[in-house]
Amino acid sequence: MKPINDTFLRALKCQPTEFTPLWLMRQAGRYLPEYCETRARAGSFMGLAQNPDYATEVTLQPIDRYGIDAAILFSDILTVPDAMGLGLSFVAGEGPVFARPVQTEEDVARLYVPDPNVELKYVTDAVSSIRRALNNRVPLIGFSGSPFTLACYMIEGRGSRDFRTVKTMMYRRPDLLHRILDVNARAVASYLNAQIKAGAQAVQIFDTWGGMLADGDFQAFSLRYTKQVLDALIRENDGEAVPSIVFTKGGGEWLSDIAATGCDAVGLDWTVNLTRARTLIGDRVALQGNLDPLALFGDEESIRREVRRVLDAYGSGSGHVFNLGHGINQFTPIENVQILVDEVHAYSRRYHEA
Ligand code: CP3
Repeated sequence: MKPINDTFLRALKCQPTEFTPLWLMRQAGRYLPEYCETRARAGSFMGLAQNPDYATEVTLQPIDRYGIDAAILFSDILTVPDAMGLGLSFVAGEGPVFARPVQTEEDVARLYVPDPNVELKYVTDAVSSIRRALNNRVPLIGFSGSPFTLACYMIEGRGSRDFRTVKTMMYRRPDLLHRILDVNARAVASYLNAQIKAGAQAVQIFDTWGGMLADGDFQAFSLRYTKQVLDALIRENDGEAVPSIVFTKGGGEWLSDIAATGCDAVGLDWTVNLTRARTLIGDRVALQGNLDPLALFGDEESIRREVRRVLDAYGSGSGHVFNLGHGINQFTPIENVQILVDEVHAYSRRYHEA
């Protein structure tokens, strides 16, 4: 069944809409007081993500508060390596940590593709529960990390400024890294397909760290495995197309390569010139982005100006989904998000007249 507001899905298919739809990466998160309240009740981040009732509650919070045009499943990219037995926890002030990082030949040999209907059942249960709660108001986006971005955390065991352990493996033992990436690609494909079967109406692959690779290495270690995922995806569910979005932070140099993977849309960070991106790949894919998340720390006038700058840069016609160029910052003033949502919806109408 089609959502009542299906502007997001139509924009991804480059079909006409009355205004430019928007959603915000990490839209359910700590900048929202109601999220912090639910998270306190859940006790921990994983307590929140693994309970379908809580996950449903926080997924709907930004939709109810702001009138955003798509919901995104509340979960995390690191649930997949956690399901592989790496032991994920979130340490206060430190971010995610794996108890058993993947660093030796033996660690790699132990990796396996989790069964999404067993180890990750809490995610597909959350998808079904969110679809029921949304009642077709807006579409639901499923997501995963890219095989490479997942490998970064799996090998390093935590976040890092330079991912030195990962790059050491890439230069000394590329064979081991390729084996990890192949398992990850199969795990991500099966995970995303399970989300689609449970009701996700579009999917996004987050390649947060692909942009730290050298040209050539990006294609060999990141994009090749993202393509392996895309090639294995279910493209249709219940007679409706399920579009895919690939977001690579720092990927501005490789837009043509990314568009050639067979994705339906390319997510752009804020460093990319949207007009040039459209000229380059806008005939093949829809574009998503790309306001600097920190623009939300401006005042009302500057936020409206920056939003218009993004909409003007794309110009007229369909094929644009407004978003931030990366996740929303946890210290973002909540009232500024409403200014952004209202400005996108009002100002973009001039670009969608028949
Ligand atoms: O977009 C949404 O609202 C859906 C939920 C979502 C979360 N994480 C919830 C979350 C999504 C889509 C993600 C993706 C994710 N997770 C990425 C890719 C996107 C990006 O930002 O680049 C990455 C790299 C992660 C890994 C991760 N999860 C880190 C590094 C951290 C800690 C840093 C931080 O922002 O706190 C998390 C924790 C996390 N995932 C939080 C949320 C709301 C905050 C934790 C909390 O509430 O305590």
